[in-house]
Amino acid sequence: MNIGFIGTGKITSSIIYGIFNSKLKTSKIYISPRNRGIAKGLSKKFRNVKIAKNNQEVINASNLIFLAITPAVGLKILDKLKFPSNKKIVSFISTINLANLKKLTNNKNISRAIPLPPIEIKKGPIVICPPNKTAKNFFNHLGEVIEIRNEKLSYKFWSTGSIMAAYYEILNTSSNWLVKKGIKKNIAQNYIAELFLSLSQDAVNKRSQGFEKLVADSQTPKGLNMQVLQELKKAKFFEKFTKALDNINKRVSK
Ligand SMILES: NC(=O)c1ccc[n+]([C@@H]2O[C@H](COP(=O)([O-])OP(=O)(O)OC[C@H]3O[C@@H](n4cnc5c(N)ncnc54)[C@H](OP(=O)(O)O)[C@@H]3O)[C@@H](O)[C@H]2O)c1
Repeated sequence: MNIGFIGTGKITSSIIYGIFNSKLKTSKIYISPRNRGIAKGLSKKFRNVKIAKNNQEVINASNLIFLAITPAVGLKILDKLKFPSNKKIVSFISTINLANLKKLTNNKNISRAIPLPPIEIKKGPIVICPPNKTAKNFFNHLGEVIEIRNEKLSYKFWSTGSIMAAYYEILNTSSNWLVKKGIKKNIAQNYIAELFLSLSQDAVNKRSQGFEKLVADSQTPKGLNMQVLQELKKAKFFEKFTKALDNINKRVSK
């Protein structure tokens, strides 16, 4: 199967790295020439990656086509392209819904998906809506597929998938704090990366227990973890966090 990407930016690059880290068999991968630097880098690194002349050439050469452009670009270019009905389209675009995607592409064979950058190491959830066999078979090689039938419910995962930068800022703040207190940068970064990896792995192993139990089990009464949690709660950290999730939900539900 040939696959194609319209838009060669961060998420396309992560998926292509994921493909080459996986056992997935693809004949050729066609990418659009923008972003030029990323496209050139990918085609140099991976023999099967070809830079198409333009977006239409990506579509013509591929059986499965990913839309990896921003919403503004999508609204500008999609209705000028021809998507034959035998092509499967998967859109990563955050704020163009299925009905509008079908209109813009004049193609009904379309799903939406939310891959995240750790797909490059074959890790992380990939929400697909509506469920689709081709998309599932593809993404099963690259992470944990979660199929959602109801489009409005699928929007909720755009909110929780948007905490990445804030999450890394917690790592960054913790590591910078250690450095300011005199710890060497490489030791600080190693400590923080290992700490968060261990917490995440523990959460994966114990996910069926519910996260409340992890919160409770991580606190000794009157202990240090309890103090940090209480200080953050007092500062309304988690209320602000929930508000940010609500605001993303409003933005993607329009
Ligand atoms: N990054 C994520 O974690 C993530 C996760 C899930 C979904 N998404 C969604 O995926 C989409 C892409 O996100 P991204 O983070 O990969 O963005 P990005 O890095 O900005 O990539 C978008 C790419 O589109 C290219 N482009 C601009 N105009 C184009 C045109 N007319 N034809 C073809 N390509 C064009 C840009 O090239 P130039 O640089 O030359 O302008 C850029 O390489 C967005 O809708 C986003 O919401 C992203």
